[in-house]
Amino acid sequence: MKSPSRNDQALITAGLGAAALLDQLASAVLVLDGALRIRYLNSATEMLFGASARRLMDTPLHALVSQGESLTERLLEALGSEAPYTERELHLNLESMVDPASVVVDCMVTPIRLTNGARALLLELHQQDRHLRISREENLQTQQQASRAVVRGLAHEIKNPLGGLRGAAQLLDAEIHDPELRDYTRVIMAEADRLQQLVDTLLGSNRLPRMVEVNVHEVMERVRTLVAAEGHPGISVRSNYDPSLPLLRADPDQLIQSVLNIVRNAIEAVLPQSRRHQPAEVVLITRAQRQFTIGHHRHRLVIRVDVVDNGPGIPADFAEQIFYPMVTGRAEGTGLGLSIAQDLIGRHGGTIECHSRPGETRFSIFLPLQQAQK
Ligand SMILES: Nc1ncnc2c1ncn2[C@@H]1O[C@H](COP(=O)(O)OP(=O)(O)O)[C@@H](O)[C@H]1O
Ligand SMILES: [Mg+2]
Repeated sequence: MKSPSRNDQALITAGLGAAALLDQLASAVLVLDGALRIRYLNSATEMLFGASARRLMDTPLHALVSQGESLTERLLEALGSEAPYTERELHLNLESMVDPASVVVDCMVTPIRLTNGARALLLELHQQDRHLRISREENLQTQQQASRAVVRGLAHEIKNPLGGLRGAAQLLDAEIHDPELRDYTRVIMAEADRLQQLVDTLLGSNRLPRMVEVNVHEVMERVRTLVAAEGHPGISVRSNYDPSLPLLRADPDQLIQSVLNIVRNAIEAVLPQSRRHQPAEVVLITRAQRQFTIGHHRHRLVIRVDVVDNGPGIPADFAEQIFYPMVTGRAEGTGLGLSIAQDLIGRHGGTIECHSRPGETRFSIFLPLQQAQK
């Protein structure tokens, strides 16, 4: 089979009319030739399949969709009979995505004739579950932001009187000379300082982010050095990086803080098993991921940082809550680590997700390469 000439493509585009308009559609629109190879596609098709036009063009549909036989049959039938049909809630297993995924689409098939008389099929695929997923994620993010705002407001209210309290204790301390009584003022000051620290953590940094070009692997290695210095001999911290990742515009300190919070949690999760001399392992992974939606923005390329541990996992009902501030599963925890990490990554236009089962917990940080236009 010869590959499509410029001429073929021109015929197709001419047949369809304004291709630029089709690129604005949220539905995937594609044209298949008699052999069901893709001969035209719009931008939404690239997003649906998670691959570039260059890679998709000329590819037979069955190479992209794994359970394609029955679909292929129906398409060939439509091609032969030139009768249009619609198929609702078609489950497509997409082969070419980074993580093989199943999507649910409504599929409209219209047989057409190209201007050179050849038969072809116009396909319109409208993804159903995408909107559900986005609105669910958005709700969750809004709730997390709201609860962070409450905590911050509360911390603010505590901060001011706390300063007064500590100042007064200090004055009193200077006035009294009985060492036994001074023990009390010292306790007040020490506890006020401790509270002050907590309040400062709750408020988070007010510093504006310092955006520079960052190599994500320098961030990862920095985190590795920091946790290595904390000394956990029974725990192996391994890395699995994609060295070809491009630089990222970000605040390195905030990235280090976020990854560190997640890695510390992973270490804490595997600590008990390492003490029992069972394998305890944390793996740091970096990858490029094409076509990823954060909020309402679809990004062509994001950097994905995974922190995977082989600890006991997070129970499903608890996993929903862990990104909220002050939610902790540990006696000595503050419940701030993940909330702060989510906040900092959010400021970079990114997001954090968690998938967990016993023996494998994976936190994934997604960082867009360019800030999306808001
Ligand atoms: N890798 C993990 N494995 C198991 N549980 C985890 C993991 N990461 C986080 N968690 C759970 O999420 C909770 C919240 O984490 P975080 O916000 O960092 O607060 P903290 O560490 O102070 O408890 C933890 O207390 C723990 O129960
Ligand atoms: Mg923590």
